[in-house]
Amino acid sequence: MAVRYQIEGTTAAGISISVEYAVTHGTLAPGENLPPVRALAQELRVSPNTVAAAYRQLRDRGMVETAGRNGTRVRPRPPVAPRLAAHPPVPPGLVDLASGEPDTGLLPTPGPALARVAAGATAANYMFGPLPALIAAARVRLGPVPAAHVTVTAGALDGLDRVLSAHLKAGDKVAVEDPGWTRLLDLVAALGLHPLPVAVVDDDGPDPAGLAAALHRGAKAVIVTSRAQNPTGAVITGARAAELRRVLEPFPHVLVVEDDHAAELVSEELHTIAGATGCWAFLRSTSKPYGPDLRLAILAGDETTVARVEGRMQLGAGWVSTVLQRLVVEMWSDRAVSAAVGAARAEYEQRRTRLIEMLRARGVPARGRSGINVWLPVADETSAVTRVRDAGFAVAPGALHRIGGSPAIRISIGQLRPAMYEPLVAALVGAVRPGERVRQPV
Ligand SMILES: Cc1ncc(COP(=O)(O)O)c(C=O)c1O
Repeated sequence: MAVRYQIEGTTAAGISISVEYAVTHGTLAPGENLPPVRALAQELRVSPNTVAAAYRQLRDRGMVETAGRNGTRVRPRPPVAPRLAAHPPVPPGLVDLASGEPDTGLLPTPGPALARVAAGATAANYMFGPLPALIAAARVRLGPVPAAHVTVTAGALDGLDRVLSAHLKAGDKVAVEDPGWTRLLDLVAALGLHPLPVAVVDDDGPDPAGLAAALHRGAKAVIVTSRAQNPTGAVITGARAAELRRVLEPFPHVLVVEDDHAAELVSEELHTIAGATGCWAFLRSTSKPYGPDLRLAILAGDETTVARVEGRMQLGAGWVSTVLQRLVVEMWSDRAVSAAVGAARAEYEQRRTRLIEMLRARGVPARGRSGINVWLPVADETSAVTRVRDAGFAVAPGALHRIGGSPAIRISIGQLRPAMYEPLVAALVGAVRPGERVRQPV
């Protein structure tokens, strides 16, 4: 694509600021190519090394990515304010099966727990740290995860950011699931880390041989999802956890981060690899089961990791507000909330199973053992997304989640309603087998 914006600058810093300005103001769009190094160097009358250094700076901050022979392009979601523009809101009239949000109708209402927090609230001063009542309750819920050192972060992504920053530096390699969670891939890029893909080829978790390869290529950290893997729904089984632990055994210093974000929404048992090495963190978010606005996750880890996370947090946000911490304690001990979360788990299970079975009955294999997404392999993502959109549904192209793997689309089930299954399945079958006639939505 031709570049409309005139990049300026005579130093690496100047050129990179000029590109960032353009991205921030929308004159360089996500996905758009930057000019080739030599061409821009000639235009700006600087050495190609200067332009290459500017592009490298931008890459280390997750602003741009190398697109093989196609040069350098702006990342789909660069870490600057208007990045949401890259995630266009679903156009009016379409059912949003793209954004991966939980069904707000299935989230427990926080009102009664909030009222109890309000009733017991007193003016608080600087607190610095997690609330003992929350940590005690979390320890009980962590089950098999070693829980000697536990703290609280502002959600799982915040925890991931803090743990990665505590141990790694720009340029370090990190093994990540492929396909994986978009926001984690963005975070890895924004920290200047180099992702090494580990395929999630089946429903049992990441591929042990892929993990071994990444470790031998020098990965300093590995991030896996225990259950409700986004986007495939994979769950790490007991056998897979044992295999992954075996693979990790010769690498006792590698940081292992495990994300069990949707725990309460999953019926499958947790098989943790936490503690497989001496440097580890295990995260459990409250977002999907209790509500994303709680902005809270529990982080267990080895002593050094937890101390670093808490120590660094004290130099910034300080701590997660005790108002939120108390609210989570109240919600965890509220029977009505537990019943609502249990009902949500059953409902998501039913939606996923119904969709997958209807597709299977039409000869179309899809994945989704747990969580709130279904992952459907397709030959061509763009035409599949377009075809499904023509039937009234927005779904996410797999490219947002993939590093290398095969094309697919992600269908989130948060907004899926009974009347939608028939037209959606017809559209999805049409997307997988374009030769087939698609019935129009009702
Ligand atoms: C894999 C994964 N981890 C964690 C989360 C939740 O993160 P947070 O606690 O930051 O809301 C999500 C939400 O989509 C997710 O898909």
